[in-house]
Amino acid sequence: MSLLLGVNVDHVATLRQARYALMPDSPNAEPCPVEAALASQRGGADSITVHVRADRRHMQEADVFKIKEACSLPLNLEMGNTDEMLSLALKLSPTFVCLVPETREEVTTEGGLDAVANFEALKPTIAALQSSGIKVSLFIDPDIAQVEASKELGADMIELHTGCFANAVGDSAHLKASELKRLEKSARRGFELNLQVNAGHGINFENLTELFQVPHLKELNIGHSIIAKSMSVGLESSVRMMVEAMRDYPENS
Ligand code: PXP
Repeated sequence: MSLLLGVNVDHVATLRQARYALMPDSPNAEPCPVEAALASQRGGADSITVHVRADRRHMQEADVFKIKEACSLPLNLEMGNTDEMLSLALKLSPTFVCLVPETREEVTTEGGLDAVANFEALKPTIAALQSSGIKVSLFIDPDIAQVEASKELGADMIELHTGCFANAVGDSAHLKASELKRLEKSARRGFELNLQVNAGHGINFENLTELFQVPHLKELNIGHSIIAKSMSVGLESSVRMMVEAMRDYPENS
């Protein structure tokens, strides 16, 4: 089974909001996240990821309902663990929910969810999502205690945060090997525990092949790099290029 690609289209909504946040119904409000989801599907994406943040800085509720309606790919809703988001998820009924930490100040999701410290708060949310047929992923740092807590919480999947690996460039390049080791150990533990192991954050056309050292990966969630590349080649081609690049992931990983 080859490595699957989830395309995060939040960045398309970010661009639209930069100009049209105060005119959501304007016919000029572009680019359109629904069109981005459809272009990703044509390019070979396996799922579409959207994150509705508490501050609605990019995706709006209307966007995610329209994507669900228009696009036949599995939808992965990233959300913070709040009552508001739980009720949105239950209404939207995406295929997957990925629970992420969220603070207003961050530019993008910065650290992993602390499944150990937030164990009791996460339990009822995971149970409510699963009892309505939604598979649950936890976006965690590559740390064995976090992987084990995710299993104890009954999560179906983990998404290993690859941000530190991706940021280990320039003056921090010496950290890359140890980050890859942490990702590898966490992926192995997740696999042993029968969790689906995904990864995401900061993965790009340059660092992708180094990540192939990490075994047992099932799906990568990639946004920024694919959308950035689409500026020169178009989104459908950009997604296709990433799908092609991901084909080199070792088959028996
Ligand atoms: N996975 C999660 C949980 C995220 O929060 C993000 C960022 O929105 C991504 C993957 C994608 O990261 P990037 O846009 O850096 O590819």
